[in-house]
Amino acid sequence: MITFTIDGKEVQGQEDWTVLDVAKWHGIDIPTLCYHPAVEPYGACRLCVVEVDDGRRSRVVISCMYPIREGIKVLTDTPRINNVRRWIVQLLLDESPASPKMQELATKFGVTPSRFKKAGVDFACHLCGLCVRACHEVVGAQALTFGNRGLRKEITSPFHTGSKECLSCGTCLYVCPTGAMEQLFDKVGA
Ligand code: SF4
Ligand code: FES
Repeated sequence: MITFTIDGKEVQGQEDWTVLDVAKWHGIDIPTLCYHPAVEPYGACRLCVVEVDDGRRSRVVISCMYPIREGIKVLTDTPRINNVRRWIVQLLLDESPASPKMQELATKFGVTPSRFKKAGVDFACHLCGLCVRACHEVVGAQALTFGNRGLRKEITSPFHTGSKECLSCGTCLYVCPTGAMEQLFDKVGA
């Protein structure tokens, strides 16, 4: 077992656990969007940032990908961290102003839609990849994938056609935090 502290409290976790795993185990709240316990972490949303002091320096890291180490000091609720989270929530909210999950996070962090919010978009896909990972890792199908690159990156089916791999199980709809998958469902022909 590895021992370290989170917000001054001594905690323990197994060697292959991340800071987020340990925080969840001990009931310490760290906000997440692209994390789900059933799939491998992906580090897409960066909402789970925390400060880690490893004895040499203090850094802002994403807790869902950061492996625990003996003696590190983790802080989850500092002005620096909350500032980063507010910026992230602002960006996500402007992309998906009607998403219940975004509204919940916005309320929590005191964020309101800005003048940069996307017009005509209610449930944008944030490319968190939860739907793709759940389809591959939980269902064992390959019905969804990332298409294109850079600004044109999107969730689609392989070769942009209706996928024969889709079992219509609804797992992607269930894990999608924004409601975007419902809108994409018709597009991929599932
Ligand atoms: S459709 Fe939903 S689950 Fe899939 S990448 Fe977009 S926001 Fe994430
Ligand atoms: S939950 Fe860690 S980056 Fe999204």
